[in-house]
Amino acid sequence: MRIGESVGLFTGGASGLGAGTARMLAERGGRVGILDLPSSAGERFAAELGEPALFVPMDVADEGQVEKAVARVAEHFGRIDVCVNAAGVSPATRVLSRKGELHPLDVFRRTVEINLVGTFDVLRHAVAAIARNEPGPDGERGLIVNVASAAALEGQTGQAAYAASKGGIVALTLPLARDLAIWGIRVMTICPGIMDTGMLAGADEKRRAALMDLHVFPKRLGRPADFAHLVASFMENELLNGEVVRLDAATRL
Ligand SMILES: NC(=O)c1ccc[n+]([C@@H]2O[C@H](COP(=O)([O-])OP(=O)(O)OC[C@H]3O[C@@H](n4cnc5c(N)ncnc54)[C@H](O)[C@@H]3O)[C@@H](O)[C@H]2O)c1
Repeated sequence: MRIGESVGLFTGGASGLGAGTARMLAERGGRVGILDLPSSAGERFAAELGEPALFVPMDVADEGQVEKAVARVAEHFGRIDVCVNAAGVSPATRVLSRKGELHPLDVFRRTVEINLVGTFDVLRHAVAAIARNEPGPDGERGLIVNVASAAALEGQTGQAAYAASKGGIVALTLPLARDLAIWGIRVMTICPGIMDTGMLAGADEKRRAALMDLHVFPKRLGRPADFAHLVASFMENELLNGEVVRLDAATRL
């Protein structure tokens, strides 16, 4: 897949990993559909990227909005080549707190609804658009990149909902790749470690240092550019399919 000729759709595209990857694609000559909440920085970010970018405000947990948003990107740019599902939330709640409070069920449901069901809903509409592309020399039509987490494999205290939602994304990877092989669409999943994004916005210096220390080498937080670089290599290497890749400086949570 040629990066400079590609149209990318990015959920969670207004911040962090999604925004970093949208920026990479736009800077390398591609065009980008940025899908994120109306309250996000999407409008400002798309204006900064200029003509190759389109912001579509939406909520990945709303079925009607997902269908319309994906159709809007496909219509505006005439195609979709790569879909990166980076929208996500990461609540922290113990199943039974020290005070004896139960994990609210709606927090669990909402997390799965956004991180897992939202990812699946966006990608099912995206693949319908990608399937309309003319296949490349080896039959390739496009690529789906889903975002799980190291927590999908080693969820920490308070991460039951988050880990369950991200574990679902890991489990989806191979069956999706198998389903979509007939269309020439590849599916890859990234499990980031500790990345310096909006998700760390509330962390003070002490907490950031403790999180950074979880990375074995290099001893720094991951950057959106590290993530974007990995997505670019997925785009360029069509033998990568049906695989889950950790991007975590050897951390084991
Ligand atoms: N930052 C990390 O350390 C880390 C580690 C592992 C996995 N991840 C995953 O990476 C992905 C990207 O997160 P990030 O670190 O860039 O965080 P971020 O907070 O910077 O970006 C997440 C984006 O998702 C959007 N979003 C949230 N709920 C949404 C909804 N319902 N509909 C549409 N958009 C919605 C937010 O508005 C935000 O722009 C997430 O799925 C996250 O779980 C992050």
